[in-house]
Amino acid sequence: MDTILVLDFGSQTTALIGRRIRELGVYSEVVPGDTVFDEAFRAGAVFRGVKGIVLSGSPESVYTGRGSVPDRFVYECGLPLLGICYGLQRMTVDNGGLVEPLPLREYGAKKITIEGDASRLSEPGRRFMEGFGAQSATLPQVPGTFTAWMSHGDTLVRLAPGFAQMGTSETGYPAVAAHESKPWFGVQFHPEVTHCERGMDILAGFVFGVCGCKKGWSMEAYVAQIRGELRRRVSGTPVLLLISGGVDSTVAAALLLAALPPEQVHLCYMDTGLMRKDETAQVTLTLEKLGAKNLHIVMCGDEFLAALAGLEDPEAKRKVIGDLFIRIQEREVARLGLPDTYFLAQGTLYTDLIESGKGVGKKAHVIKSHHNVGSPLVDAKRKAGRIIEPLERLYKDEVRALGKILGVDAEVLRRHPFPGPGLAVRILGEVTREKCEVLREADALFIGELKKRRGPSGKRLYDEIWQAFAVLLPVRSVGVAGDERRYGWVLALRAITSADGMTADVYPFAPRDLLEISTLITNAVPAVGRVVYDVSSKPPATIEWE
Ligand code: XMP
Repeated sequence: MDTILVLDFGSQTTALIGRRIRELGVYSEVVPGDTVFDEAFRAGAVFRGVKGIVLSGSPESVYTGRGSVPDRFVYECGLPLLGICYGLQRMTVDNGGLVEPLPLREYGAKKITIEGDASRLSEPGRRFMEGFGAQSATLPQVPGTFTAWMSHGDTLVRLAPGFAQMGTSETGYPAVAAHESKPWFGVQFHPEVTHCERGMDILAGFVFGVCGCKKGWSMEAYVAQIRGELRRRVSGTPVLLLISGGVDSTVAAALLLAALPPEQVHLCYMDTGLMRKDETAQVTLTLEKLGAKNLHIVMCGDEFLAALAGLEDPEAKRKVIGDLFIRIQEREVARLGLPDTYFLAQGTLYTDLIESGKGVGKKAHVIKSHHNVGSPLVDAKRKAGRIIEPLERLYKDEVRALGKILGVDAEVLRRHPFPGPGLAVRILGEVTREKCEVLREADALFIGELKKRRGPSGKRLYDEIWQAFAVLLPVRSVGVAGDERRYGWVLALRAITSADGMTADVYPFAPRDLLEISTLITNAVPAVGRVVYDVSSKPPATIEWE
């Protein structure tokens, strides 16, 4: 399959570059920026089909010596190159140009003017420039202007020999460079971010126009390929998948069930008593609908509540939950009586690999542990070469698309994230059964309303919001019920918008929605006396309260 390789120099948008290329229907792989292209690498699966290389951005400067340097092979292999931000600066200094700090960092939306004489460029160069919306025949005469997205503190002050400046930013610095004879290009801005005008066209100009890639990447193609791979690897051996009920593990289960005889697939789910309302019933239904035959539901709420009794410190609570999780996991897996050779499957995503900094080929120690626990079970299986990660080449959006193809309910695929330690980090202070019940009810009412009400876009509030939940505060406040004064718990509502959970904005509810939801909760859940709305963004606040 035609592939674009993305060299990762550490930019926050590296994963996005890979994802955008896949959106164009072309497979992309992200590898560390300093990957050595030795014979073993070139003979490996990652390099097969590579038609072009993208050099990503980086938080580092090229002249500090801290940023990664690509293998010289990158410049000697003859493959087309596209440098983005640091990638362009890297290509410039590695090939005899000069980069220096800007007096003032260029950040955000900036106008770019396309200029320069495209007739000086080779055929690939002219095709690259077509991605900027100009026809090659008219390009030299018709400069175009568009808004790009910038984030850089350094600039090219002298292009490397052989490069021509084809575009300039409104501040007068080089924004687009193209080599006159080699298929090498660079942009100072970020075509991969959505608010960059023509961003996808520019990437398409490189991927199709310059590299000549053919579309070969789709979820349907992936399912066919991964099915074959799973069957060959696993053969008749049992596979165990630990299920959290979230999107990743549910889609991983769906994929295993679609690829292997269902009797061979063991799914294990632990109800810690810290789940949302009706969660276990929903998870069971979802998995049964997907054809699960060996579904092991472990009800261990009593054990978790007993272990949490009297604990108030958030870190102590997390530690107790993590340790108990491991203990029960080992006990229950032993109870299943699987042969020692069984495979352990995990819902690791491609971004988990990229974000862990390990990249493809160096990921031996990357573990996406169930409920964030460094698990000895996973360690042992990894050492034995018995881990299966069927989603490890997919981005989150692709996992959702895959889930849809495999028949996972749309509501499950749209579900907001839920932390591993569950309600324990949303009940501040000591966790008790009674508080779990109160929070579960209030949270279900809140979420139920978000699914009924529409936002300004016409979508359900639930779908406009990235994550929403209720938090039970360790505070009682006075209220009135009839003629009596009554002390009730204070409940905080949290609703945020976000791209990835790294930063978050507060969802700006219409006041009426908040007021009606508050009334509904205090009427239906008498233990809650007062409702407040959390208006803190991240940073400085985190999304969860503990
Ligand atoms: P914070 O609170 O760190 O949350 O801003 C960012 C995202 O991560 C989720 N989160 C967790 N997920 N185990 C998880 O699996 C955890 O311990 C955990 N803590 C926070 C949180 O819900 C949000 O989506």
